[in-house]
Amino acid sequence: MSLTIALSKGKLLAGTEELFLRAGLPFPAREGRRLVVPVDGLRFLLVKDMDVPTYVEHGVADCGVAGRDVLLELEPDVYEPVDLGFGRCRLVVARKRGAAAAAAASTVRVATKYPRVASAHFLERGRSVEVVRLAGSVELAPGLGLADCIVDVVETGRTLAENGLEVAEEVAASSARLIVNRASYHARRDEMSRLLGAIAKARTA
Ligand code: PRP
Repeated sequence: MSLTIALSKGKLLAGTEELFLRAGLPFPAREGRRLVVPVDGLRFLLVKDMDVPTYVEHGVADCGVAGRDVLLELEPDVYEPVDLGFGRCRLVVARKRGAAAAAAASTVRVATKYPRVASAHFLERGRSVEVVRLAGSVELAPGLGLADCIVDVVETGRTLAENGLEVAEEVAASSARLIVNRASYHARRDEMSRLLGAIAKARTA
């Protein structure tokens, strides 16, 4: 049976494709709407960013490519052997440009796709926090009065700038990571080490 690899359909897909092609590995064609794609001895699952760790942790996929931002949020029980070096971005707290920070004693209302990361960030700083969980476009929330600030990923900073927000605090740095199911890593050692070897070599090339 061929190895199954879970890939995010989002921003990491282009960097993953470049890496796989450099490593001489097959990669699914970008056109088409199939979500399970067998290509030359590998099987690819095309899923949402936040779902990649779930497929890998449950062993439906042997490995996958996920952002560190997603891994910090979900804390899946998987191996994380390789920083792939692309998809670099930052998790930050952002608020309306020029807005003062909320008073230290008050509860911070934060809109985010990363509820665990956001809660931990404020609680570690002794702040009480109320999380407003959104699925996307969180940059809207402060301007519309839904939240005082957001915790989200910033890559170019364009989305923040165009929505009147600015970075207030850094939370964590992120990049794409290869993650591997713990059982597959041992049970399918030969195939896995060939795949990991090819990827590691292409990553440093
Ligand atoms: C991410 C993130 C920001 C944007 C940041 O969203 O949530 O909205 O990218 O990128 P920038 O700093 O280069 O502007 P994404 O496009 O992944 O979509 P989503 O909101 O649907 O998750």
